[in-house]
Amino acid sequence: MIQLIRGFKDILPGEVELWQHIEKTARSLLESFGFKEIRIPILEHAELFARSIGEDTDIVEKEMYTFSDRKGDLITLRPEATASVVRSYIQHKLYAKDPVRKFYTIGPMFRRERPQKGRYRQFYQINAEVFGIDSPFIDAQLIFLLSVFFKKLSATELKVHINSLGCRICRPEFKKALSVFLSAAKEELCSDCRRRSNRNPLRVLDCKVPSCCSAMADAPSILDHLCSECSRHFEAVKNALEKFKISFVVDKRLVRGLDYYTRTTFEIQTGLLGAQNAVAGGGRYNSLVKALGGPDQPAAGFAIGLDRFVEITDLKAKDFAQNPDIFIAALGEKSMSMAFDWSCAFGLEGIIAELDFAGKSLKSQMKRADRLGAKHVLIVGEKELEEKAVILRNMTTKEQVMIPIDDIIETVKEKL
Ligand code: HAM
Repeated sequence: MIQLIRGFKDILPGEVELWQHIEKTARSLLESFGFKEIRIPILEHAELFARSIGEDTDIVEKEMYTFSDRKGDLITLRPEATASVVRSYIQHKLYAKDPVRKFYTIGPMFRRERPQKGRYRQFYQINAEVFGIDSPFIDAQLIFLLSVFFKKLSATELKVHINSLGCRICRPEFKKALSVFLSAAKEELCSDCRRRSNRNPLRVLDCKVPSCCSAMADAPSILDHLCSECSRHFEAVKNALEKFKISFVVDKRLVRGLDYYTRTTFEIQTGLLGAQNAVAGGGRYNSLVKALGGPDQPAAGFAIGLDRFVEITDLKAKDFAQNPDIFIAALGEKSMSMAFDWSCAFGLEGIIAELDFAGKSLKSQMKRADRLGAKHVLIVGEKELEEKAVILRNMTTKEQVMIPIDDIIETVKEKL
């Protein structure tokens, strides 16, 4: 039998109802805050991700599904959505009428990481991006939105981590200080970090290898190197979070795994998923739109990892399951044909109706109705057809009433 590819998964009925509820809540919340949905392709030119996420990141170096198509173009299954949303903002000149735009998108991303709990090769994100505003209020509002989302969907035990990565003025100074520290600590670093410490020293702060973590414990902090503008921006983000009563920890090591960030970065972390502790992450990326050939517009955003989120929320899929409203137990050919017409009419009215096509006994049909969790059963046989009245049984109270066949759809609708 052909099985799933490792790291990929099916989301089955019985689980999918929770996903649907989460997505519905996210759409409604984001739309209430002025975000518009944008749908972007799953395949993009490989170069888009190399230039935005950065050549020296784990994602681009090791994790992208990149292949040449039949014409030899190098294309990639998107590992994240931000780069594509920025490409779209530039390509369609979405900034022309008003540079301030807010988008959200929900869908699958692909990274060839080592699969484990909370880490998949195809995973889903709810992504939100704001363009054209540099105000620290936006950074705080994004974090506020995340905290509202998590609260609404019963995910507790989450911690907000924030940091600032400075800008093109102050970050080079920090990189210099970090490089000096790294050359002294070289012996303790993993081979990836040794290689990266020259080309992209910030990445070393993000390394999860235990020897690197301990070697970096006393590394210089970016927060001691921020220019006055970045410092003021970061203070304003923190003040706004306090105003929103959102507790947070300042985490000077939070550089995130993507190179496009400037100023604020943040992550929502959980203790419930072992090593995969980030349920959402994001930040500001003021240089990316220009770097990809667009106007000099600031931007900020976040992505929630849906796969991780469903594992930590207290909500259960069964609370959103839609069992049949009615099961029509039909006995005999004539009743069956009548039941079929009714089931279609119920469907059109938004009433979920099921019936048995196999001509089974009443007892076995009742058993199936029970197994499906039907709330009511309509029993119709030759005798009922003759008498022009059928039995409606409430499966919870076990109460039975006779209802006339004429106008049956309306009558049942009233009784449900
Ligand atoms: P990211 O931190 O790479 O950021 O991913 C965001 C979230 O996606 C993570 O916090 C995690 O919950 C989930 N995630 C990432 N990789 C996996 C995986 N292999 N399996 C399951 N879940 C995963 C971004 O992608 C940025 N584009 C976020 C952003 C938007 N920054 C600005 N705007």
